[in-house]
Amino acid sequence: MQAVINKVPYLKGETEVAPDKSISHRTVILSALAKGRSRVKNFLEAEDTLSSCSCLQALGLTIQKQDIDLVIDSPGINGLQEPDRVLDCGNSGTTMRMLAGLLAGRPFMTVLSGDSSLNRRPMQRIISPLSMMGAKFMARSSNYPPLAVQGGQLQGIEYHMPVSSAQVKSALLLAGLQAEGVTTVYEDQSSRDHTERMLTAMGAQVEMQPGQVRVIPGAILSPQDWEVPGDISSAAFLLVAATIVPNSEVLIKSVGVNPTRDGILEVLKQMGARITVQNARTVAGEPVADLLVQSAPLKAMEIQGTIIPRLIDELPVIAVAMAAAEGVSVVRDAAELRVKETDRIAAVCSQLDRMGVAIEATPDGFVVDGSKSHLQGAAVDSFGDHRIAMSLAVAGLIADQTTYINNAEAVNISYPGFWDTILSLSR
Ligand code: S3P
Repeated sequence: MQAVINKVPYLKGETEVAPDKSISHRTVILSALAKGRSRVKNFLEAEDTLSSCSCLQALGLTIQKQDIDLVIDSPGINGLQEPDRVLDCGNSGTTMRMLAGLLAGRPFMTVLSGDSSLNRRPMQRIISPLSMMGAKFMARSSNYPPLAVQGGQLQGIEYHMPVSSAQVKSALLLAGLQAEGVTTVYEDQSSRDHTERMLTAMGAQVEMQPGQVRVIPGAILSPQDWEVPGDISSAAFLLVAATIVPNSEVLIKSVGVNPTRDGILEVLKQMGARITVQNARTVAGEPVADLLVQSAPLKAMEIQGTIIPRLIDELPVIAVAMAAAEGVSVVRDAAELRVKETDRIAAVCSQLDRMGVAIEATPDGFVVDGSKSHLQGAAVDSFGDHRIAMSLAVAGLIADQTTYINNAEAVNISYPGFWDTILSLSR
């Protein structure tokens, strides 16, 4: 599908945003551990999270929609069955990496595969520590999916993650719960902690300290009633759009503002954005708030170091904010962007360059000169990456002439209502 975007005079109104993708994945994957019925309010029905559902169904869970809730029946971790076919993780790295951790402790063989993007993403980062725990893996070039997992009896380990990754950390916690002995994972920079919070709610013994998380196996986990907040990574597109489109005022309701995910708020505020956090509350163990955004002129900013994992998925749309800001902005320490759904450094730089942005790629980030950028519509491509599609759409909202985004259906991976929300706010 091709999306056609024109400059808009304003964005105005009140909106909810897509439910959180990371938490939605975890509701189905973690529910597999607990025998009985779990329920999920506000589950994200998008391609990525539906991939998690279909994989868990093949392993023996029953997942149904009842009214607006998702109802999950699990036979418990010991009741999971060996699937008789390859499990399709679609485009979802979270599904593949977390399932590899779950299946590392199961006494059977599973093959995990994905679409052409996922099958190009590195898996050595989970293969290596899970192999140390005792699981066996086969993968193309020992790194790329399809990934065959032969699970079995595991031993707890102490593991220092070479890159900060919530997917790797979560895989190790899921394996650690099934291992003999304690598993401790060390990370230099804190990544999102939804798995730790959710496992704790289920009754698991998880100890969190700055820079490390430890899981002590043995507790019987109980099914939960989950409620998923709005996704700050999806809200990010609206936050940037309502900031850079003049005359805008948008209230985004019920957004998850977990401190391991809220780097975008910090950065946009430092750049000069007018964002007010209202009605802060806790929903099912996660901090949630409404975010009021009003247009504002932006100034350049340098981003690097420990904040990077707190806004890693938002960097493509932050590049758009930088294009609209006065001065030279720099992003460093973000080489992980090169191994996301696409090489996001290459994608963002090549496509924003087509739209008149003065942007240059570096090995671990990019440099944007907002003062020398004048956004113009162009024919651009998402390369099948949902966050690239939505970032280019936000750029198109302030560009002169029309922007044509190819492979725009990619938004269905995480935010199927994105186009409707933009339309309704610009009416
Ligand atoms: C995610 C973790 C991050 C993030 C991804 C979702 C998760 O990936 O980029 O979109 O749900 O755990 P890494 O763990 O590879 O950093």
